[in-house]
Amino acid sequence: MNRRVTGDGERLAVNTTMHRRDLLRFLSLSAVAGAAGRAYPADAFAWPDQAPSSSFIPDVELALTAAPGEANILSGAPTRVWRFTGQLIKGPADTLRVLPGSYLGPVIQLRRGQKVRVRFQNRLAEQSIVHWHGLDVPEAADGHPRLAVGAGRDYVYEFEVTNRAGTYWYHPHPHMRTGAQVYQGLAGLLIVSDAEEDALRLPDGEAEHLCVLQDRLFDDRNQLVFRGDNMMEMMNGFLGDRVMVSGRPQPTIDVDAGWQRIRLLNGSNARIYKLTWSRDVKMTLIGGDGGLFERPVRQAVLTLAPGQRADLLIDLTGVPAGTDIHFDSQAYPEADAGIVGMMGMGMGRGMGMGGMAGTGGVRNGAPMRIMTLRPRARQGIAFAVPDRLSAFDETWAIRGNATTRQVPIVFARMEWLLGGRTFEMGQVAPEETVAAGSTHVWEFMNLANGMGMQAAHPIHMHGRQFRVVQRSGGTTNALRTGLADQGWRDVVLVLPGETVRVQATFSRHPGLYLYHCHILEHEDMGMMRNFRIS
Ligand code: C2O
Ligand code: CU
Ligand code: CU
Repeated sequence: MNRRVTGDGERLAVNTTMHRRDLLRFLSLSAVAGAAGRAYPADAFAWPDQAPSSSFIPDVELALTAAPGEANILSGAPTRVWRFTGQLIKGPADTLRVLPGSYLGPVIQLRRGQKVRVRFQNRLAEQSIVHWHGLDVPEAADGHPRLAVGAGRDYVYEFEVTNRAGTYWYHPHPHMRTGAQVYQGLAGLLIVSDAEEDALRLPDGEAEHLCVLQDRLFDDRNQLVFRGDNMMEMMNGFLGDRVMVSGRPQPTIDVDAGWQRIRLLNGSNARIYKLTWSRDVKMTLIGGDGGLFERPVRQAVLTLAPGQRADLLIDLTGVPAGTDIHFDSQAYPEADAGIVGMMGMGMGRGMGMGGMAGTGGVRNGAPMRIMTLRPRARQGIAFAVPDRLSAFDETWAIRGNATTRQVPIVFARMEWLLGGRTFEMGQVAPEETVAAGSTHVWEFMNLANGMGMQAAHPIHMHGRQFRVVQRSGGTTNALRTGLADQGWRDVVLVLPGETVRVQATFSRHPGLYLYHCHILEHEDMGMMRNFRIS
């Protein structure tokens, strides 16, 4: 552990002031995580019915394989990655789309109402399972870690797409290995379209950009660096030193001088972006995690936390050819994203954990270039943003009588706790049980522990999207101005000191689902809980 901590003094300080029991506990967690996820043998939770069901007639059927591979990412030697590859067995020819130059999984393009069967083939040397982030699917299709299948095994998913048009995604979800597997390249976009969105005739084709933002760190032989056994990296979350856009480092994209639709997914393990366009290009936000907003929102800055999506339009009409439009993550104070001190661990006041991570990544809040759009002389798509994008808000209202549950978030016993607990594979607490179709308010309270340790946590709920009802508390935070809480969300960023109330109407599918922090290292360390829909 901690071989890459920058100085011996720091390592000593950690070792002498951390409770020995906690240290041992952490070491055993690390050992488990390092042992290729053998903590929970797949057979212990084998799902009873793993054959495709004869009564389910899919409109779309595909095979999705996770396997080690290689990608040409940087100039010079290829990078060893793990990648999803897809094969269409049945359905529309454009169901699977491989983005040029991308080693990420194929974009899966689905229509609302389609019945989908996916044959997942785990060809990794360790267990895995795929989760369809944002989709409301039956329990057996949700990719719960207890359903992880071992190396060489398969898993069959069957579900109907009931979600609204929107930008969703898929990624592995085996316990303690989600961060490592996503980092190695296992992630892809899942785009749902429907008639309501078609009617808007949003910019498409070359004018639509699918951008998965992920920070990565490479060694001098072009290999990905990730240290799942580094305590600082696990507590703080992995941070790389450069941003990739759908697998390409800082791309420059030629575009026509017209409207562009940019769909964003923050697929990073732990980085929170504060996004802006150069030359005062304003963004018109039209959607978030769960599809289109009711009305467009104009803002200059967008905060995007791990797991979150954004759908936005920018107008480059009249921009002179060759004028580079940069997309950047702006500087913000590190403490606004994270742990503000480690006094209790013998660290000096004000020494952020990211600064001493010793992994070579750059801290949260460091300015980073993401990509550049370069307009051509050719005039692009003309477009007028409608005042009303979708009708969905009519179905939503704050329910004053909804049951409210408080979910404190705090760092204790060397772990990030959710509702005072850590993850237990098959367990749910009484307050984590909800009736199918019922509406509840969950109140996430981001508290500081006795050592002043506190971080921003993007909290994700599986199943249906929720609405953000209210934010309160917290102090001045540079990330707050860019927050987009509108529309249906499935990840909400809870800033240090804040209480965020969300209202969720739970799925009609009964079973065991998850809610967790989408900083993947926090999730892997147990900042995750089940809820049961009864
Ligand atoms: Cu995208 Cu349970 O996660
Ligand atoms: Cu999810
Ligand atoms: Cu977290």
